[in-house]
Amino acid sequence: MCGIVGYIGKRDVAPLLLEGLARLEYRGYDSAGIVVNSPKAGALKMVKAKGRVRDLEARVPKRFAGTTGIAHTRWATHGAPSDVNSHPHLDPENKVAVVHNGIVDNAAELRAKLEAEGVVFASETDTEVITHLIARSQADTLEEKVREAVKAIDGTYGIAVMHADFTDRIVVARNGSPVILGIGEKEMLVASDVAALIAHTRQVVTLNDGEMATLKADDFRTYTTSGTTTNATPETVEWEAASYDMGGHDTYMHKEISEQPDAVDRVLRGRIDDRFNTVHLGGLNLDPREARGIRRVKILGCGTSYHAGLIGAGLIEGMARIPADAEPASEFRYRNPVVDPDTLYIAVSQSGETYDVLAAVQELKRKGARVLGVVNVVGSAIAREADGGVYVHAGPEVCVVSTKCFTNTVVAFALLAVHLGRIRDLSVTDGKRIIEGLRKLPAQIQEILDGEEDIKKLAAEFAEAKSMMFIGRVRGYPVALEASLKLKEISYIHAEAYPASELKHGPLALIEPSLPTVAIVPDDDLLEKNRAALEEIKARSGRILAVAHREQEKADHTIVVPKNEDELDPILMGIPLQLLAYHTALAMGRDIDKPRNLAKSVTVE
Ligand code: F6R
Repeated sequence: MCGIVGYIGKRDVAPLLLEGLARLEYRGYDSAGIVVNSPKAGALKMVKAKGRVRDLEARVPKRFAGTTGIAHTRWATHGAPSDVNSHPHLDPENKVAVVHNGIVDNAAELRAKLEAEGVVFASETDTEVITHLIARSQADTLEEKVREAVKAIDGTYGIAVMHADFTDRIVVARNGSPVILGIGEKEMLVASDVAALIAHTRQVVTLNDGEMATLKADDFRTYTTSGTTTNATPETVEWEAASYDMGGHDTYMHKEISEQPDAVDRVLRGRIDDRFNTVHLGGLNLDPREARGIRRVKILGCGTSYHAGLIGAGLIEGMARIPADAEPASEFRYRNPVVDPDTLYIAVSQSGETYDVLAAVQELKRKGARVLGVVNVVGSAIAREADGGVYVHAGPEVCVVSTKCFTNTVVAFALLAVHLGRIRDLSVTDGKRIIEGLRKLPAQIQEILDGEEDIKKLAAEFAEAKSMMFIGRVRGYPVALEASLKLKEISYIHAEAYPASELKHGPLALIEPSLPTVAIVPDDDLLEKNRAALEEIKARSGRILAVAHREQEKADHTIVVPKNEDELDPILMGIPLQLLAYHTALAMGRDIDKPRNLAKSVTVE
C-alpha cells in the first residue's frame, strides 16, 4: 500500500527519489518523506510532510545534496497521517533511517520492551521499533544489525535501511511486501514497485520472502535472513517507462479505459489455436489428464478481481461444465474452508500482492491444494506462489480503481474456460464460436469507446443522484456489481447492486424517482425476464438507464452495445459503465485517480 524507493550511486539523489515517489503515489498518499546522506559524515538529513508528494517536494531545501537516499510514500496503518508518523524513521542520533511497508504484528510488545530500556519513541508507528532495534544492535555490520532486527519482528515487511556509519550501502529485506532491486550502471536502486525504477533501469531482481540484499553503487548481493548467499539473476521488465505516463489523457483512469482494445488484443495474442479451436496457456502447468480430473473450481479474489472471478466462474461452469464459484479471498481465509484435492483453486489479483489473496493461496498450498494465479504483474508474490497460471497482460495500471485489468482478467478467464472446455465437453463448433467472439472484442470495445460523448451527457444527469441501483441477472449480475463498485469508489455516490430477480424480495422498496437504476439487459435467453424487471421499476416511477443490445422502451435511456456471443457479452457491457462512473465523478469534481481512503495495492490485512 505504501511505496519505497531508494538509490545509491553518483547522482544527486533528492530529485530522483521525489520523482520515484510521485510514480508510487498511487499506492498510498497520505504522507511522504526522504532521507539522504549528508556529505558531512556521521549524520543523515531528513524531510517529511503530511500530504502528497508535492507537499514534501515543497519542503525539501535547495541545498539537500546527497548521493544515497531512501524515501517513502505512506498510507497510514499505525498512527494517523502526520509529519512525525511519516517515514523514514530515524533514531535519536540521526544515524539509522528506515522505510517500511507492511505491519509489525508484535510492535506493541517490542515498544514496551524498548521503552522499559529507556528508549523514547518519536512517533506512533510500528516502523519506529525497527529503527531502534537496528540502532541498539551491537553487531559489527549493518547487515547483521538488520538481520537481528528482522528476526525480532513478526509480521510483514519490505524495508530499506541507511546508516550514517555505513554510507557505502543500503540494506533491504523482504517478508510479505515487495522489494525490487533496480540494477544500473554504477548505480543501484530499490523500490516496492517497478514503476519507480523503470525510468532508470529495466534490469531488476525481485527479492523472495526471507531474503535480504546489500546495495552498493557498483555491486549488489542477496542472501537469506540466516546469512546464506542466494542466486539473483537480473530479469528484464517487459513494461516500458512510457506506459506509466498519462499519454495525453487528463487522468490515468481515462487512459486505461481507452487502452482496452489494445490490452485485450495483447491477452489474446499467441494463445489461440485455430487448428483445434482451443487455447494454449503456456504457464498453466496442468496437463489434460489433470484437467479432466478437476471436479470443482473455486475462484478467490478481492474487490474488482472478485467480480472478474464471478464472471470467470460462470464462463468455466458454462463452457467446461465444471461446477465453479467465486468467493472474496478475505472471507474464504477465515472460515476454515474444506480444502478438496479435486478442486482447482484460482487466485485472481491485478497486483499479485493483495495480502488477503496471498494469505489464502498460502493457506491452500499448505493444505496441499493446487492453486493457479490469474495475475497482471509478472513475477509478483501471488504469481510466484501459485503452481501455474495465466498472466492477463493488461500492462501497468496506475489509477487506483481497476478498469483495463478487470476487462483483461475476464478475457483471461474466457481463454481458460475454452482451454478447459475443449479438454472436456466444449464442442469444436462451440470452441470456434467463442474464439471468433473473442477476436471481435477489441473492435467492439473501440466502438463502445467511440460513443463516449453520449455517455458523458448521461453522466451529467446522474451526478445529481444521491444513490443508484444496479441490476443484472446471471451473467449480468457481476457486471452490475462491478459497475456499482466503480461508481461508488470514484464518485462517492452510494450504489447498490442486486440480481434483477431479487428486486421484489426487498430492494424494490427503495425505488422512487430520485433513485435511478442501471439495468444490464443483454439480448439472451433472459431478455424477457430482464424486461419484466424494467416494468416493475417503471411501475414505481423509477428512472432507468439500460445497457442493452437494442433500445429498451421501458428505459429512459439505453446505451446500445455491440452483440457478441452470449457468454462474452458481460465483457462488453461493463465498458460503458466504466465511462459512466468516470464522467459522473468528473462532473462532481472528484480526484479520480486517487479516490479518498483507497490505495492501489492492499498489501496489509
Ligand atoms: C477496485 C479495485 C480493487 C482491487 C482489489 C484487489 O477498482 O481495483 O477492488 O480489485 O483491491 O486488488 P488486486 O486485483 O490487485 O488483488
